[in-house]
Amino acid sequence: MKIKINTKTITDKNEAKTFLSKYGLYADFWQPEVTDSSISDPLVKYKNQIEKLKKKFGYASADVCAMSSNTQNLDKMLSAFIKEHHHSDDEVRFTVEGEGIFGINPLTDPPFEVYVEPGDLLVVPADTRHWFDLTDKKNICCIRVFKENPKWEAIYEMHVNTTTSIS
Ligand SMILES: [Fe+2]
Repeated sequence: MKIKINTKTITDKNEAKTFLSKYGLYADFWQPEVTDSSISDPLVKYKNQIEKLKKKFGYASADVCAMSSNTQNLDKMLSAFIKEHHHSDDEVRFTVEGEGIFGINPLTDPPFEVYVEPGDLLVVPADTRHWFDLTDKKNICCIRVFKENPKWEAIYEMHVNTTTSIS
């Protein structure tokens, strides 16, 4: 994992975790606990970590999502991710293979980019403005984890907070 903020780059894992936590994002770094090379299913390879994560954040399900230059309509798919948006559920992505870039707009501070690679877990909380792009390698395989059944709905408009508090 690498984080780019303006001209600064964070490569240290602990520093990255601390930086992300300031904005409510969670990062972790997983090694496969199942090392049997005949097992290729990422959901089996990382079963224990997924179960721990589900308990920690109350997630209910997980699946595997892959995109590469061979994916049909890749550009069309990416065009939905590249535009800044947020979700009503957390966006939880563990990178199994390949790489990707999450752009995060904390609104209170300048946007920054999180470059993910195999072994990186990133949790982008619900309502956090973000976007996603592939790198030039155009290849990623991720485990996705959800609070509800798998769904992906991007909300492109920013929230208008109409709540006023009188104290
Ligand atoms: Fe998203």
